[in-house]
Amino acid sequence: MNQQRTAPPTALGDDSRSMTVTSADSIIAPPPLPRKPAPRETYSQTYQDPAQVHWYDSTVYAKGTHDDVLWRIEQTLMTRLLNRHAPDHARADALDFACGTGRILAFMREQVGTLVGVDISPEMLARAKQKVPDVPTICANIIDNPQDVPGNKDIITSFRFLLLSEPPLREACIRALVGKLRSNQSIMILNTHGNPRSFRALASIRNSMFRPGSLKLAKFSLGDMKQLAERVGLRLVGTAGLGYLPPFVYKILPTSLCESMERLLANKPILWRFGTHIFFVLKKA
Ligand SMILES: C[S@@+](CC[C@H](N)C(=O)[O-])C[C@H]1O[C@@H](n2cnc3c(N)ncnc32)[C@H](O)[C@@H]1O
Repeated sequence: MNQQRTAPPTALGDDSRSMTVTSADSIIAPPPLPRKPAPRETYSQTYQDPAQVHWYDSTVYAKGTHDDVLWRIEQTLMTRLLNRHAPDHARADALDFACGTGRILAFMREQVGTLVGVDISPEMLARAKQKVPDVPTICANIIDNPQDVPGNKDIITSFRFLLLSEPPLREACIRALVGKLRSNQSIMILNTHGNPRSFRALASIRNSMFRPGSLKLAKFSLGDMKQLAERVGLRLVGTAGLGYLPPFVYKILPTSLCESMERLLANKPILWRFGTHIFFVLKKA
């Protein structure tokens, strides 16, 4: 299914950390982490596994991990993007697609008027229910049953979905979400956490030189976003980039120092293009 022939989500940096030779986390030998759940056949099936749910929340986003630190900085950037592109966001009707265990819901509920989370995995949603019991969630397949997902949204977010979802699934979902925006002023905020113009380029070179046969690192770039936007009737109106230190640096330097460096560099002119993580703010074309 995955036409890019990248490692499946459970074997890569997305929601895996340091478990395989292909992970960008393993540029220098990482400390051992709990074993990852086995991958499923498709991206949508992967997160139906309770072990994956547990992995995502308690390992990927464990306190002090690379992902946890970046998420703290991302929240600052998200607040700025919302203030700039949706100044009336406190009254907005918002939807978080592929909401998973509710990480984005917990942040967005403080930012908007009304909020709903949508995901295909009942297991992920069960965890979200514990984390953000006040936010309604819908278990739905937006492609097969678009009517199950409410429309007329002022803000739609979807994080950590673009990079590892299979291209046909990715495009079909984003296209369906465009139809759920209220107007030309409504915004969609998506992200990549695998910008190839980042330290991941070095990891890819390392793999091709020293690890022949290893799966390619997944990538989704600014250019990929622009092309996708054009195909589904969106236009890019804003960006923010961050994530310059490879995860192994977090194992060498104190977390607080890593966070300070990442914060200092986050979303600086030109440099933002070289962060692993990029936010895309989009409006209907
Ligand atoms: C890596 S998790 C991201 C969760 C959350 N957005 C976050 O950033 O913490 C990817 C999520 O995409 C969901 N997903 C996969 N395929 C989907 C689909 N076809 N429709 C809706 N959600 C889907 C998975 O169930 C999983 O919860």
